[in-house]
Amino acid sequence: MAENILRMRRITKTFPGVKALQDVNLDVVRGEVHAICGENGAGKSTLMKVLSGVYPHGTYDGDIEFEGSIAEFRDIRDSERAGVVIIHQELALSPFLSVAENIFLGNEREKRGFINWNETNVEAAKLLRRVGLDLNPVVRARDIGVGKQQLVEIAKALSKNVKLLILDEPTAALNDEDSAHLLGLVKGLREEGITCIIISHKLNEIREIADSVTILRDGRTIETLSLHDGSVTEERIIRGMVGRDMESRYPDRTPSIGEEVLRVEDWTVHHPQESTRVIVDAANLSVRAGEVVGVAGLMGAGRTELAMSIFGRSYGSNITGTLYKNGTPITAKTVGDAIRHGIAYATEDRKRYGLNLIDDIKRNISGAALGKLAKRGWVDGGRETVVAGDYRRSMNIKAPSVTSITGKLSGGNQQKVVLSKWMFSDPDVLILDEPTRGIDVGAKYEIYTIINRLAGEGKAVIVISSELPELLGICDRIYTLAEGRITAEVPIAEATPELLMHYMTKEKD
Ligand SMILES: Nc1ncnc2c1ncn2[C@@H]1O[C@H](COP(=O)(O)OP(=O)(O)OP(=O)(O)O)[C@@H](O)[C@H]1O
Ligand SMILES: [Mg+2]
Repeated sequence: MAENILRMRRITKTFPGVKALQDVNLDVVRGEVHAICGENGAGKSTLMKVLSGVYPHGTYDGDIEFEGSIAEFRDIRDSERAGVVIIHQELALSPFLSVAENIFLGNEREKRGFINWNETNVEAAKLLRRVGLDLNPVVRARDIGVGKQQLVEIAKALSKNVKLLILDEPTAALNDEDSAHLLGLVKGLREEGITCIIISHKLNEIREIADSVTILRDGRTIETLSLHDGSVTEERIIRGMVGRDMESRYPDRTPSIGEEVLRVEDWTVHHPQESTRVIVDAANLSVRAGEVVGVAGLMGAGRTELAMSIFGRSYGSNITGTLYKNGTPITAKTVGDAIRHGIAYATEDRKRYGLNLIDDIKRNISGAALGKLAKRGWVDGGRETVVAGDYRRSMNIKAPSVTSITGKLSGGNQQKVVLSKWMFSDPDVLILDEPTRGIDVGAKYEIYTIINRLAGEGKAVIVISSELPELLGICDRIYTLAEGRITAEVPIAEATPELLMHYMTKEKD
């Protein structure tokens, strides 16, 4: 019989007002890849934080048995010493430190009390190669994209003596190519005998890589399924997660498309530090009222940079080109200008630009449009609460109240707060950058429904997504971006994953 490396028994974890976990059991076989699935707020991250000592022994009920003996981890270092390493859902690299410094943070390569920089950088370069990242270890973490940051996190985990690696939604921020790379890496680790627990909302990935899956719902274990014989379908996993069958992943869409709202002409953007390096190259695109337009591209194609440069030049330097709003040229040199012109940008990187995590839900929702709540120069707190309450209900944000601190919400629910915030600012053009990143299948459907509703109200919506099926499921038209250039504009009736991929990988002639 296969030996268990981990048994969690009757784990119960309570936060003020929330029972996050109740009597949860989890058995993980040594050397396997074990997936954990469940809707946003089901308790997946909390369970892994209990396991890794983020929530120390004594703050939860139940037992953890790791490698045959009871583990009572006092903190993360304690669990790491035992060989349990967690990579969190929200990446945690220090932006101003170099990649090498991040890898060895708290685990410095020292020689007689001094940090040995040579060794640090050499070792870091080796680890980076192991995760397939061709990167100079001295670059600062903030200068590499979220996708690469994820790989750096794994390199960091490998620098420790890891026996059980926990990955909380590792591919949420990655495109298909990088996800495939990362999943290949996990398979490689399995061959080396490292056990992995992986949390993901991407059920196709789980079926591809995991040996078994445990499903949580509302803080309880529903079941553990073996994925070896291939009989467990995605639909089967969804049924476990939501407790019922889901008929379709995308809501029906009957577009009613009006006049052009935003046009971007000959838009060229240079790198913020290297002002001669072209990031967006003479891009032309437009979006009409009631239309949902997709932007597809591989990581590094410049999708986010394009969006942010349009949004009040919040990215880039030396920007040229023209923005037209309802046919008239506009200048939007700051985020404030862009918002005044009715442009909103909901970011892929919630932590960095989207939310104030130490503030509560209502303040985050009202943040971009406080003026709408002003009464004689003061924010009308009562109305703020009512408005936020409406969004909490309509977006189905799982939280005890609108005064809950955003940083304590599950990742998917944080994303719903970001969307609520921009919906409340009532823009004419809404640019959504990876709007369903880290969001469960049920909530995705809700967000697609919201996008439909916004378009139905006459808003122009631009959706940037790494998931081609998603763009194909919700858009009216799709632009492809490759190396900063728009390589094609494809009407939805003609769009296929193969065609889009062809244009997404098109090199400059
Ligand atoms: N520090 C905290 N304080 C209060 N409540 C919390 C805290 N951390 C988590 N919760 C609550 O516990 C529940 C489970 O959250 P958790 O983050 O484990 O969900 P999840 O399954 O990881 O969801 P997601 O897929 O969205 O990441 C949620 O209702 C969440 O709001
Ligand atoms: Mg989570």
